[in-house]
Amino acid sequence: MRILITGGLGFVGSAVAVAALEAGHEVTILDDCSSGKVQVVERVLTITGALPRLVVGDVRDRAALNEAIADVNAVVHCAGLKSVVESATDPLSYFDVNVGGTVRLLQAMSAHDVHRIVFSSSATVYGTPELLPIPETAVVGVGLTNPYGRTKYIAELLLQDAAVADRSLRVTILRYFNPIGAHASGLLGEDPASTPTNVFPLIAEVARGARASLTVTGTDYPTHDGTGVRDYIHISDLADGHLAALSHDAEDTGGCRVYNLGTGRGTSVRELIDAYQHASGKQLAVTSGPRRLGDIAACFADPAAAARELSWRATRTVEDACVDSWAWQHHIGM
Ligand code: WQD
Repeated sequence: MRILITGGLGFVGSAVAVAALEAGHEVTILDDCSSGKVQVVERVLTITGALPRLVVGDVRDRAALNEAIADVNAVVHCAGLKSVVESATDPLSYFDVNVGGTVRLLQAMSAHDVHRIVFSSSATVYGTPELLPIPETAVVGVGLTNPYGRTKYIAELLLQDAAVADRSLRVTILRYFNPIGAHASGLLGEDPASTPTNVFPLIAEVARGARASLTVTGTDYPTHDGTGVRDYIHISDLADGHLAALSHDAEDTGGCRVYNLGTGRGTSVRELIDAYQHASGKQLAVTSGPRRLGDIAACFADPAAAARELSWRATRTVEDACVDSWAWQHHIGM
């Protein structure tokens, strides 16, 4: 089938494009190139031997959407703004792109008889989890501390309402935990367009000498070593989860399903640093600092639903992600 990947030049979108092409699908990418780079298309071709179709445009632009959605059977919607920090100073852009863009996309899907969408959501919608590991049935939308998280939550509500109104619409919401790593070839990975705020790309920058040191934000959390614990999932496992979602819904049933895409294991910041030092052979300069406003102590997934219903589970380790990321550091920006 032909899959439209909005934001397909980005870290997640390009990984999904590789997985989809390697599974024998055709891919159209819609991307405004505001953060993803056109060179990604060549990297995808090098890795898979298949060329995705690229439509350069904004997901809010009806003309671009109509051009991109031609001959498409399903959509993977990754286009969106994703900086927690930036969203606090520019909420209007975050709601315009992340919510408004989803409205435009659904309108284009309806106009072109496309009934299948897989949506890139985030574990941020759980706020401060009451129990760990977090199941999909946990409370969402409460205590969200930033506009970014609220746009993801509202986009989920929008998709659920759309699936009720249009019984032919099949929606799969994938709540990402913390995507890390790079494609095993070392040719494709996270290439932040601006200074990253996530810990993993910051660690990678310190390892490759692009940053002097890393500040561990919070060493007094109620965790086994005092630093924040997260569920770091290899980007290729995350991409495989999208293909599992797309192939799962072969039956022609409507409705909206939600799945956590995580490993089910928590890793602390200190453990992540140690893993990256081992993978890179570099001793990273690390200092300790105060907690980051809005951060939670621990967050990791209960991935049982995706295993049961999508026959998917993460197979790669944090160590694999560090090895693949380190290989990517030698190609980044080339
Ligand atoms: C992880 C840990 C920090 C920076 C965010 C978004 C989430 C998703 C993933 C998009 C925490 C610590 C961080 C630093 C540090 N993004 N840290 N030093 O906050 O879990 O999740 O990214 O969907 O929606 O909220 O990821 O990588 O920012 O932080 O010690 O310089 O690293 O305190 O414990 P987070 P993160």
